[in-house]
Amino acid sequence: MKPILQLETTTLWDYPSQQHRTEEEQRHNHYIGATPSYIIWNLLTRYTKEKDLIIDPMAGSGTTLDVARELKRRALGYDINPSALKARKDIFKSDARNLPLEDEKADFIFIDPPYSDHIKYSDEKACIGRLSALEDEYYNSMDIVIKEIHRVLKKERFMALYVSDSYEKGYPFMPIGFKLFSILEKYFLPIDIVAVKRYNKSLKKGNWHKAAEENNYFLRGFNYLFIMYKKSNKTYSTANDKIYIKDKRL
Ligand SMILES: C[S@@+](CC[C@H](N)C(=O)[O-])C[C@H]1O[C@@H](n2cnc3c(N)ncnc32)[C@H](O)[C@@H]1O
Repeated sequence: MKPILQLETTTLWDYPSQQHRTEEEQRHNHYIGATPSYIIWNLLTRYTKEKDLIIDPMAGSGTTLDVARELKRRALGYDINPSALKARKDIFKSDARNLPLEDEKADFIFIDPPYSDHIKYSDEKACIGRLSALEDEYYNSMDIVIKEIHRVLKKERFMALYVSDSYEKGYPFMPIGFKLFSILEKYFLPIDIVAVKRYNKSLKKGNWHKAAEENNYFLRGFNYLFIMYKKSNKTYSTANDKIYIKDKRL
C-alpha cells in the first residue's frame, strides 16, 4: 500500500516512498536516478491544467511523461541517451542545450539534471553527467540548458528544477543548489524553494552514517526544488488564476 497522495502545503516535502504509483505502474523502475513521481504530481496539479503541454528536457526513465499523462496533460520528453529505454517511443534524442522546439511552446517544464558526475548515465560526449560540479564547465552548460528552457516555455508559465548539493570525500563541498538557483534567477522570477526529503537506499546504510560521523561530513538529506516563473513583458496576470504575482521588477 502506498501512502495517500496529497497536495503539499509547506516548503518541506516528506513523502515516505520514492514513487506514488505501484511498481507495475512505474514501468522503468530499474533506471538509476529516477525522480520521485509525487513531486511531479504535486507540481502538475498546482501549476497546470488538462491538455497543457509538459516538457522534460532530461526525461531519463520518463517519470514526468507518465505522471503528465496520468493527469491528462500532453507530454514531450528529450534525453541525450534515450536508447537506454528502447521500449519508450516518446523520449526523443536531443541535447537539452538545443531543443528541437519553437519558442514558447511549453505550458510547464520540469527538469532533474545530473548533480555532478557521480552517476554514469551514458558514454554520450554531451552528457552533462560527465561534468564535475567542481568545474565551471558544469555550470556553464547548465546556464545554456536553463536559457533554452526559458526560450521554449510560454510567458506567464512555471518551471521547476530538482537538484541536490554534492560532497565527495577529499574535495571541497559543492553547493550546486545555490549556484543553479543564481543562474535560474537571471532568467526567471522565483516562486518558491522547497526542500524535499531524500529516501534513497544509501541513506539507510549504517556504514554510510558511521563514515559521515567519523570523517566529519554530512550525507545529503534533502534535494532542492526550485519553482520559477517566466515573466511577461507587460502584465501582472498569471498562468492559472490561483496565483497572484506582484513584483516590483515586472
Ligand atoms: C537525473 S536523470 C533524469 C531522471 C528523470 N527525471 C527520471 O525520472 O527518470 C538525468 C538525465 O539527464 C540526461 N542528460 C544528461 N546530459 C544531457 C544533455 N546534455 N541533454 C539531455 N539530457 C541529458 C541523462 O541521460 C539522464 O537520463
